[in-house]
Amino acid sequence: MKILVTGGLGFIGSHTVVELQNEGFEVVVIDNLSNSSEDVLKGIEAITGKKPLFEKLDLREKSAVQDFFKKHADVNGVIHFAASKAVGESVGNPLLYYENNINALVYILQELEKKQEANFIFSSSCTVYGQAETMPINEDSAVQPAMSPYGNTKQIGEEIITDVAKVSGINAILLRYFNPIGAHPSVEIGELPIGVPQNLVPFITQTGIGLRKELMVYGNDYPTPDGTCIRDYIHVVDLAKAHVVALQRLLNKKNQDKVETFNLGTGVGSSVLEVINAFEKVSGQKLAYQIVDRREGDVTLAYADTTKANEVLGWKTQSTLEQAMESAWKWEQKIRS
Ligand SMILES: NC(=O)c1ccc[n+]([C@@H]2O[C@H](COP(=O)([O-])OP(=O)(O)OC[C@H]3O[C@@H](n4cnc5c(N)ncnc54)[C@H](O)[C@@H]3O)[C@@H](O)[C@H]2O)c1
Repeated sequence: MKILVTGGLGFIGSHTVVELQNEGFEVVVIDNLSNSSEDVLKGIEAITGKKPLFEKLDLREKSAVQDFFKKHADVNGVIHFAASKAVGESVGNPLLYYENNINALVYILQELEKKQEANFIFSSSCTVYGQAETMPINEDSAVQPAMSPYGNTKQIGEEIITDVAKVSGINAILLRYFNPIGAHPSVEIGELPIGVPQNLVPFITQTGIGLRKELMVYGNDYPTPDGTCIRDYIHVVDLAKAHVVALQRLLNKKNQDKVETFNLGTGVGSSVLEVINAFEKVSGQKLAYQIVDRREGDVTLAYADTTKANEVLGWKTQSTLEQAMESAWKWEQKIRS
């Protein structure tokens, strides 16, 4: 079975390539290296003993996408990670986000639509729920108006896939991730944020290693037990494994609908201060941080109801927050040594 992984050299994609190869799939990666490096291939090889096929191309180039599918007509499934993902940048440069996250998706679906049947997995996000009214968040919670062009590309992406699946041989699974963190336990691959990290955990580890002076904690007056925002942090290896399970569900025709949606989280909410505590515990050092005013756009509380993923998909997380944090910290130490 040959699987195309777009964005397969990025953070979540690279961990998924490892899990796919461990399960015996042949993987071909598309990446334009806009947010990753070719060295990731070496990391994947060090873990699995095998380098995936690699096609360096930009999915915004329609003819390149067409040529790829001519060359690799035998692809049995596609896991589509490639996208731009910085929320703040998307506010300043919306067209970059609409071009990269929407055009690329359309070009891939145009090729898959030509096939009698095709299996497609899409990286979506819990941001589609905005501030959900009830916790934990299940898949029936209302999708709220997007708060950024990035968030909007995920909502539009889900709609495009749903519309196309209705009139084609495409079966799809939309995976709504909560907050992926951590690195592979081998520390051969991990997250490589370019510039100032947008997410909490890489900011913490970069502060811990001395690259950043201190972490800003945006608000401690939220209606949560310690006043800081709560999120659902999921180990990237657990998340990667969910993609393999979802793919097998499509390949084995176990899906109940042409498009299915699953939340991927741990089901446990952790506050910013709890995440800092986890870091201090695994690193044995104090973290420099400062409480500052709330930041616009942050929701108070978001954690997943994992019932559907557990019972229908047959997947659940295995790692704790501390294990994920420990892997993130080891990875930070390795890349700075
Ligand atoms: N990391 C998160 O917190 C998070 C949360 C929810 C959803 N997601 C989604 O998951 C997916 C993967 O996220 P990630 O954290 O691994 O991001 P990432 O930036 O590490 O990986 C994305 C990869 O796609 C590549 N890419 C981007 N545009 C491309 C193009 N036009 N052509 C070819 N390759 C291209 C990049 O070079 C990169 O290697 C994205 O769709 C993202 O929106 C991520």
